Amino acid sequence: MNWTNPRQVDRSPLELVSGEVFAKEFGVQPTHFARAPGRVNLIGEHIDYHDLPVFPMAIQREAYLAFRCRDDGFVRIRSVCEDFEEVEFEIVPGITASSPGHWGNYVKAPADELARRFAISRGFDGVLVSDIPIAAGLSSSSALVNAVGLALTHINGVVLETLPFADVMADAERYTGTRGGGMDQAISIGGHAHHAAQIEFSPLTMSHMLVPERWRFIIANSGVRVEKSGYAMGVYNARRDESEQALRIVTNTALDRGLIRSQVTGYKNLLEILGEDIAIEMAEAVLERTLFQRFRHVITEAVRVGTAIDLMARGDVQGFGWLMDASHKSLRVDYEVSSVELDELVVVCREAGAAGARLTGAGFGGCVIMLTEQDKVDVVLEGLSRGYYGPRGMSTDTDQSHFVARPSAGASIITL
Ligand code: GLA
Repeated sequence: MNWTNPRQVDRSPLELVSGEVFAKEFGVQPTHFARAPGRVNLIGEHIDYHDLPVFPMAIQREAYLAFRCRDDGFVRIRSVCEDFEEVEFEIVPGITASSPGHWGNYVKAPADELARRFAISRGFDGVLVSDIPIAAGLSSSSALVNAVGLALTHINGVVLETLPFADVMADAERYTGTRGGGMDQAISIGGHAHHAAQIEFSPLTMSHMLVPERWRFIIANSGVRVEKSGYAMGVYNARRDESEQALRIVTNTALDRGLIRSQVTGYKNLLEILGEDIAIEMAEAVLERTLFQRFRHVITEAVRVGTAIDLMARGDVQGFGWLMDASHKSLRVDYEVSSVELDELVVVCREAGAAGARLTGAGFGGCVIMLTEQDKVDVVLEGLSRGYYGPRGMSTDTDQSHFVARPSAGASIITL
């Protein structure tokens, strides 16, 4: 597949800004732009790393990278955001990481992975601009990884189809220290306008589903940043370890009892063999409380994803909303990745008239996603201002605090 779009007549504001800053910074025009969207996950949280299906969509907020190929193997990239210092490094397999949490690690990640796998050696000068809220659970970091990955593959003549590209970028991002799944990179490259996507893993597949015309997903930022490199990374990796450990104990018990004949390949396989009820019943009998809760979240969330997709196909807004509520409860009680603010925001969303609401992304802060119908959007937004943002004295500028998510197209390269 070729992601190069013909030059568009309408230049997006992000393209204009990154292009102008590039020209000022480097004294020449960029030759290309790589754009990659953020995402919002509708349902299926903390289960992609267990190879269970998830259901996200790409959104209209994007990372935009203006770039120009260099003659050597250096990458020099700056952000228009003054808080981010310029990053410069040479592309070699085994690039030394910046300090944990440094944005440069999300630039180095794809360079390192592509150097290891494809021996790429050609770098670029680049300027980055993004309107994806940062540290808010909307995948600003995976969008950056994908944009840089696209630029590097393009410059170095590495041709990858959508799904293999997503796989490579998912591996690449683990360079940053988070043992994440592959949802974010896949939807950011493979999203379709007007569609959400059911994503399955090992092997990676995507099936796109038209979002009903009258459905509106609203994203509301709790205002609490999720610093992926700090506390959130530690808890994220711990949850993965705990749920992996829970699976090991349950499968060993099932083997001992002759319920299964050979080691299962993962949660998906176990669910297929035992079914939801027996799997949970057995887990409850053999696991200590915390591990049982982690196990129960993974199993029930996987089942909710399948049901939610059926409900969207039938246009059942109330049913889908109910599952979002159930997902949030499971993330709050069983997986313990919510926060006081996210819980309050979810309650406010419901009181404001949303059909359902849940934390989205890794949790620990960041955003809530809620579902409502087109004609109720204004009422729900008013309720959010009155119930959450107003009392906290937070800005209700819809650009920063809350906005209606538009299911959007995946990443691409634009050639000037
Ligand atoms: C982060 C990770 C994803 C996924 C979500 C939680 O966004 O990058 O792979 O695990 O958290 O669903």
